Amino acid sequence: MDILFDTANLDDIERLTPIYPVTGVTTNPSILKAEGKIDFYAHFRQIRSIIGPNRTLHVQVLSKETQGMVDEAHRLLDKIDANVYPKIPLTEAGLHAMRILKSEGVKVTATAIYSKTQGFLAIASGVDYLAPYYNRMQSIDINTRETIEALAGFIKRFDAPSKIMAASFKNIAQVSHALQSGADAVTLSPQLLQQALSAPDIITAVDRFLDDWEEIHGTTELPF
Ligand code: E4P
Repeated sequence: MDILFDTANLDDIERLTPIYPVTGVTTNPSILKAEGKIDFYAHFRQIRSIIGPNRTLHVQVLSKETQGMVDEAHRLLDKIDANVYPKIPLTEAGLHAMRILKSEGVKVTATAIYSKTQGFLAIASGVDYLAPYYNRMQSIDINTRETIEALAGFIKRFDAPSKIMAASFKNIAQVSHALQSGADAVTLSPQLLQQALSAPDIITAVDRFLDDWEEIHGTTELPF
């Protein structure tokens, strides 16, 4: 199972990557907006230096045209590093770009997936990851669990190399449901993971253990 940080915030990535079992970082232009006017390639080289060579880094192209997407993907590989996964929105132009990039041996993440049809096309094109947008799909009354199950079923049935990296989460229940439905990976904001571990019940349980110990032993530490 892969858990990725959906953020471009250097401080969060640096502080939280040693704590959480993350296997990569994803971003999109809206996520980058939160970081202000960054030096684009330098920013991603910094992310790479924080996460190291073994975690995956997924960076989205901007162009809406096939050739523009292919050119931008090449630029990402040249200017960040050769292991970047260009993230390509699955439009018709994007599908064409993905097929060209896959024929060149480039690793590709298909993004902006809202439907089974987009998913099937991504899988049939041999993409490495496909990113169904969980919350956005739910918001327009698409059955996200059924969609992910169907895509996972196709991957299994055709022994395809693609992995489902569910994205666009607004609460932790959506994350669990995506994984239970067959997603191989989930990408979410570090804040959502942190929220999950700071739930009042967890804090209360830990505090009560300490209170009980202190009541008898007068300390909150184990004996030396
Ligand atoms: C993933 O990489 C997606 O771009 C992202 O999760 C979309 O999230 P949003 O729906 O919160 O914008």
